[in-house]
Amino acid sequence: MKYFVLFGPPGAGKGTQAGAMVERYNLCHLSTGELLRAEIAAATPLGLQAKSLIEAGNLVPDSVVEGMIEAKFRDTKGVDGFLLDGFPRTIAQAQALDGMLKKSAQAVTGCVSIMIPDALIHERIAHRANIEGRADDAKPEVVENRIATYHAKTEPLIEYYRQVGKYFEIDGTGTIEKVRERIFATMDKL
Ligand code: AP5
Ligand code: MG
Repeated sequence: MKYFVLFGPPGAGKGTQAGAMVERYNLCHLSTGELLRAEIAAATPLGLQAKSLIEAGNLVPDSVVEGMIEAKFRDTKGVDGFLLDGFPRTIAQAQALDGMLKKSAQAVTGCVSIMIPDALIHERIAHRANIEGRADDAKPEVVENRIATYHAKTEPLIEYYRQVGKYFEIDGTGTIEKVRERIFATMDKL
């Protein structure tokens, strides 16, 4: 089984590129953001807990997302691997993921990182706000907090995966098609 971490700042294009990636490599796409938004829409206890954190642009507790991911690993059949979009997002989550995979003698295959400058993050999120109506895209101060949270808590993962030779950075600027070609060129070798 392959375990790909799909990494990148808010608005980098993770969700946009995921569909083509899962199709080409027969993966299960697991986006913790999408899973949490589904819990909120269904007004589950977990959703109620996550709602105010997400709408303020803060992370939900590590244990919540770790539990969701482990349940999906257990219940998903018939794929050649997983594409983890938006998880891990902290060093603690990355360590928890390593621990989960170790139990079945597996490991992260690679961290595929879509990188764009902060100015482009603003542009892309402003564009998506008009289309998707995500609560955390609507307010500039929430978007700022998501970007700051990314730099403070998530960016250290670059070094975490680089140290073990598993960090693969993709230039996320340019057209969707161009970025996809770069991703495939990297992932075909992993
Ligand atoms: P999450 O849903 O993961 O949001 P995010 O990381 O902020 O990332 P986005 O979904 O905003 O960006 P994306 O990279 O998918 O961009 P997209 O492809 O849509 O998380 C939301 C919240 O949930 C978090 O803030 C946190 O509260 C919580 N959460 C989630 N995971 C968690 C975890 N592990 N731990 C704790 N809390 C967690 O693209 C953006 C826009 O750009 C789109 O309109 C798209 O059409 C456009 N676009 C994409 N590529 C291009 C291109 N090449 N050219 C032009 N436009 C493009
Ligand atoms: Mg997304």
